[in-house]
Amino acid sequence: MTKPKVFVTREIPDKGLDLVKEFCDADIWPHEIPPARAELVARVRDVDGLLSMLTEKVDAELMDAAPRLKVISNFAVGVDNVDVPAATARKIPVGNTPGVLTDATADMAFALLMSAARRVTEGERYVRAGKWKTWSPQFLLGADFAGATLGIIGFGRIGQAVAKRAQGFDLRVIYFDPSSQPAFGATPVDLDALLHESDFISLHVPLTEETRHMINAGALSKMKPNAVLVNTARGPVVDPQALYAALKSKQIFAAALDVTEPEPLPVDSPLLELDNCIIIPHLGSASKHTRDMMSLLAAQNLIAGLKGEQLPNCVNKKVYY
Ligand code: DGY
Repeated sequence: MTKPKVFVTREIPDKGLDLVKEFCDADIWPHEIPPARAELVARVRDVDGLLSMLTEKVDAELMDAAPRLKVISNFAVGVDNVDVPAATARKIPVGNTPGVLTDATADMAFALLMSAARRVTEGERYVRAGKWKTWSPQFLLGADFAGATLGIIGFGRIGQAVAKRAQGFDLRVIYFDPSSQPAFGATPVDLDALLHESDFISLHVPLTEETRHMINAGALSKMKPNAVLVNTARGPVVDPQALYAALKSKQIFAAALDVTEPEPLPVDSPLLELDNCIIIPHLGSASKHTRDMMSLLAAQNLIAGLKGEQLPNCVNKKVYY
């Protein structure tokens, strides 16, 4: 029996890739840099399934270039790189990888928060630059955690996992998310109250038209001068120009970004000139077990779609009604 054809846009961990290879005739992009748009369009022409990364724009044009496409399996929980309504209109189910990356991403949010608040990367750069001459009573002073207020914007799985971690640090936790119930001792508040009251703010919303540049000049102006902003959600949730201005003028204390607008961040980005801004290259889910499990979920979604079965994790279940 001929196997269904699929394009896998990067080498994912073997845990999932072995399954894909067993069930499919798989074209696997072997390079670290993603396929350019023209290459991507060419590779999907006769495929039944696509296993994409968040680096690929899976839009209506790409779907129309793949007339046999039966399933899109995105190797991420976020699906803002996929035009989901366009897929739904074409009856193509879209899969994602929720749950398995919750702890890894919450861990990273906390690591970034602590690093920015306690100036870890600044200190490290100082030592490497050979500037460490003595111990000083007033040098590189950071923020205290016990008794401080952590504001979480977006209180889904990952936001709640951050709240759970905050309990161990004696933080008061407030959150803004009209669709979530309180958990882990966190109190719901409106967005303005969160911006005004928080010493630390961590973002956990998906990227949508409502959340794009949600953290803009207006929002930053409501934050405390000691505020630390952490973004492990999606880069465009924060307006980078407004953030630069707020950090440069010390309107807020610091920011730590796992995600940026755009990605990758150009080396001449003004944000990279700032000592009070930590930037890492979208590593929230980058732990061995997490990526193994993401690859497994992505493979299971892909194969279910190829078999005409409901995807275990489908973001547009409407395609089945
Ligand atoms: C996701 O899954 O959406 C993360 O951003 C990448 O792991």
